[in-house]
Order: sequence, then structure tokens, then C-alpha cells
Amino acid sequence: MCGIFGAISDDSAKLVLEGLRKLEYRGYDSAGLAAVFPDHKGPIETERTTGFVADLVSKADIRFQGASIAIGHTRWATHGGVTDSNAHPHSSNDGRITIVHNGIIENAHELLERIGNLGYIVNSETDSEVIVHLLDHEIKSQSSNKTPLDAFASTLRLLKGSWAIAAIISGFDEILIARNGAPLVIGRGDGNFFVSSDIQPLFGVCSEFAFLNDGQVLAIERSGIRIMPESEEPYFEMLEGSYEEQDSGTFPHLMLKEIHDQPISVSNSLSGRISADGINAALGGICLNSEELRNLDRINIVACGSAYYASQIGAIYIRKHTNLTVEAFRASEFPHERVCSPNTLTIGVSQSGETKDTLDALQSAKLQGGHITSFCNAIGSTMSRLAGNGSYLHAGPEFAVASTKAFSSMVSVFILLALTISEMKEVDRRAIVTEIRKLPNKLTTQLLEDDGSIERATEILSNSKSAIFIGRGISSPLSNEGALKMMEVAYLPCLSYPGGELKHGPIALIEDGTPVIAIAPDDQTSVLMESSIRECKSRGATVILISDTEGTMCDLADVVIPTQPTHPDLSPIVNVIPLQLLAYELGVSRGTNVDRPRNLAKSVTVT
Ligand code: F6R
Repeated sequence: MCGIFGAISDDSAKLVLEGLRKLEYRGYDSAGLAAVFPDHKGPIETERTTGFVADLVSKADIRFQGASIAIGHTRWATHGGVTDSNAHPHSSNDGRITIVHNGIIENAHELLERIGNLGYIVNSETDSEVIVHLLDHEIKSQSSNKTPLDAFASTLRLLKGSWAIAAIISGFDEILIARNGAPLVIGRGDGNFFVSSDIQPLFGVCSEFAFLNDGQVLAIERSGIRIMPESEEPYFEMLEGSYEEQDSGTFPHLMLKEIHDQPISVSNSLSGRISADGINAALGGICLNSEELRNLDRINIVACGSAYYASQIGAIYIRKHTNLTVEAFRASEFPHERVCSPNTLTIGVSQSGETKDTLDALQSAKLQGGHITSFCNAIGSTMSRLAGNGSYLHAGPEFAVASTKAFSSMVSVFILLALTISEMKEVDRRAIVTEIRKLPNKLTTQLLEDDGSIERATEILSNSKSAIFIGRGISSPLSNEGALKMMEVAYLPCLSYPGGELKHGPIALIEDGTPVIAIAPDDQTSVLMESSIRECKSRGATVILISDTEGTMCDLADVVIPTQPTHPDLSPIVNVIPLQLLAYELGVSRGTNVDRPRNLAKSVTVT
């Protein structure tokens, strides 16, 4: 979702354009840049465009060379259409102040009325533009002993909602920044300062970084940082690591590369969390030990999208292997008042660690006095810092908008959690752990063995206007994930239902040739899945079966996508691969931008 990058450096505009390019994976629909030059006091130079950062680079041309301070933005539209005038930065009417904003100003309507009464002309349909006019008014009306930072802080007091904001003012060699509910990180090194929505673009350009916390308001200038008296000092740490280029390597797309990363990403998620004797699993990092976990009143899991479906599978594991009450919630629907108390644990699950709905749910659990923790992929993300404890997924950076390897890593971490809490018999534990250890090899085989079934299934789907996904038990949330992936990257309308529910309504949709994708591993649900498949077949459905079984169920199917047999608990980690490949292949055959599907963002930082 929206990205901010700012620089105080020699040729800062060039660095900002490069920073914006590195933030592209977050998803956006327009981009913009603003810069000031040494000793220049006139209107600020700006450029904005719909489309990509590459389009902004062409439009900016050489006009920004030699800029001493620059800020840039990639916008994912929330208020107002995708147009040049809605793109950030937004400038004051005299062009001397310009701002970029990530988040939502909830009282924009009321504030627009206020600035209208003050005589300001509004040039966009966004909620963000109001900030620059309010700042302009504060600067012009405050007493002469006050600074732009004071005016900025007064402006922020008028806002309701969430924000990361960077502002520059002609004649002042500083960037004003503030954070409230949207991520922002400062980088410094070699006399240069940077501000960014996430840490990735800072690798290689600075040596230290500091995450901003909610409520921090400060001015960055070459000589250092000035803070408002009531604001806390940013805490700098050494920046270690390197920027991982969004490079698909030998694969045509990032999504396909990330699907093929899974043998390694799952292995990394498991690494160090299984004992050498192959019997025990221990997921460290959580604020409670296994005894304390067992004594909880309940566990809540909050997440969105693919992370929610992984969490539903996680809830099934914990229910199956412990006596605990556990429930996975869509973060945006979390009934915190009903389910959180001091003896509950709420787990936030997220690839990015920046998803606003999940952050809000976790925060509400904390306010209710409960324990909170997180399973995040992005190191140092807002969610992991909010929780202050938790287990990282270690799946490696995921850049394609559609989540693939993070999903399998989430499920892997959940089975480890269930094993950590469980007091199951050693023989049962050993049976699971032994198969967990085989997972990376099985995923490799699943990815490499190509019997042409994915291609045949893609062919069927390419002639269809919709598809129905079914599964039972642990494969039911997985079928939701399969349908989500297909809708996201192939734009195919999909329905996902537990196999047993089909006959209670959705079966009315099935007619000759309706594709039904059935996930039916060899587990205790397979007999009933066979009945569901028969019900579909007798109404004319074309069945694509994802299964490690052989026999009558396979005979019913029009295409069988064979999967590697594993422990029944682990089947979602293997079976998600054909679902991801089907979505990818259909997307490619339909000519969609599989890595950047329309309307989607990688980090959803608004509610
Ligand atoms: C699906 C997808 C989204 C995310 C969801 C949560 O492919 O990418 O549904 O899973 O927006 O994102 P995170 O995991 O970053 O919280």
C-alpha cells in the first residue's frame, strides 16, 4: 500500500526515486516526487503521475538533479480515483509546502469545510490534501518565535485517523515527519538522512535506523534530529543485512519464484525448532512457556486474507492436539470485548506485520489486558514490535502481491505451536515430527514432478467463467485459500465451500461443465469427500481433484493432480502448491499481471 521515501543528501531526488522503486512491491497506482534545492526559496518542484515509478522517472527527467532534500510517494487509492491530481505530494496553494501521507484522515470532511472557510482551494479528492492547507495556515498564523515543527505538531492535533507524514517547506532545510498508526522508519549514515515506509530501501544507503513510534513528531536536518518536547527520542540501531532485490531470477515472475522457494522457506521456518532426536518441537519467542500456554482460558488468532486461512488451519491443529479453546478471527471482525481477558493469548499472524486490521485487533486484545504475540515474516515490523515477543516465519522476503510462501510458513509455525503446547503421546508426536522433517523434500518433489495435470486443469478453467473449490476438515480453509489465490491473480470469480455444505445451497450453481476443484487428501474426511464429488459429478461438474489417493475417487475426476503423501495434519502445506500453481498458470494464460494484480496492495495499512 502507499509508500513514503524521503532523503536529505546530495542528489536526493535520485535517491528518492530509487527508494520508491524499492517500495513498489507494496502495491500502488500512482507516484510522485517533490524536492528543494540549495538556497532556493520559491515554490517547491513537484511531479506526479498515475502508473509506475518508471513513468515518474521519465516525467521527472533532469529537473530534479542536484536537489538537497526530496520526498516521494507511491499511492494506493482510497479517497478519490487514480488520477495525477490525486497522486501525492500535495502542495499548499502557494506551492511552498508539500506533503506526502500514508493512512486515512477520518475527519477529512470536517477539516475540508474548515480550510474552505479559510479560503484555501482544494485541488484533489483525497483526504490527505487537507493536511498541507492546515499546515500552511498554522505556519502563517502562529507567533514569530515558533518553528515549522511547532506548526506541524499543531496541525497533527487537528487530525483523527492514521498517518505517516513527511513534509517539506521551501526555505527550510528539513523534513518534518510524524507517525500515528502507519509505519515509518528513519535511516542515517555518512551525514545523510532517509525516511521510509519500510526498512528494505535503507539497506546499502545508511548504517543506522530507528523505527518511529506512534505519536513521534520530529524534524530531520543534515545536522541531526529535532523533536517536539512531548515526543520521545528515536532509538537508533545498527542496520545489518542487505537489500534483497525483487529479482525473479530464472523464473518469469516473482510469484512463480516464491512458489518454488517453498522447500527452502518451509525448511527455514522449521529450522532450529525441532529437536535432534526428531521427537520434539519447540516454538520459542512467545511470551508464555508451554505450561502457561496450557493454562490459558483461550487462544485467539487474528489475521486477514491468506494469513487468516493459515490461522484457521492453525486453530484446527491446536484444537486437535490440546484441550485449549481456540478460535481464528478475521481481524476486522474481532470481538475483542467478548474473547479477551488477562488469561487469554491473542496471536497476530501476518506476512508484512503492517496490516492495519490485524494491528488494531492485537492492540484491542492488549487493551483488554490479555497477552499478545505475533507470527510475522517481516523482521522488525510494527506488529512484532507491538507484541514485543513472537516467532518469525523466516520465509524470506515475499514481493509478489499474492502471498504464497508466507502461507506455507504460517501453517508450519502453527503445527510447531500445537506440538509445543500438546501433551500428546510420544508415538503420535514422533509420527508428525518425522513427516515434518521430510516436508522440504516432499515440496521439492511436488514442484518438480510435472505430469501435465496442472496444464490440463488450467485448460478447463480457461474456458470457464467461475469455479467452485471444496474441501473438508483441514482442507476446508485450504480450499478458501485456493479460491482466494485464483480470484486475486486470475480474476476468476470463485466460491469456496466445505464439501458437506455444498448440498445446502451452492450445489444449485452446478451445471454441465462447472469446474469444481476438490481437495481430498487421504485422511478421515476422504470418504465423505468422495460423496461430495459424486454429488457434483452427477450434476455435470468437471472435477479437478487434488489428492494423494488412488482408486474410486480418482476415477470420478476429470483431472487428478497427484500430491505427495504426508501426515494428514501436514497435507495443507503440500496441497497448497497445486492451488498456487493453478492460480498462477491461469493468471498468466489470461494475461494478468500476476505479480501486481489490479487493485491489490502487498501491505494493507488502512482499515
Ligand atoms: C493473499 C494476500 C492477502 C494477505 C492479507 C494479509 O494472497 O496477499 O490476502 O494475505 O492482506 O496480509 P499480511 O499477511 O501481510 O497481514
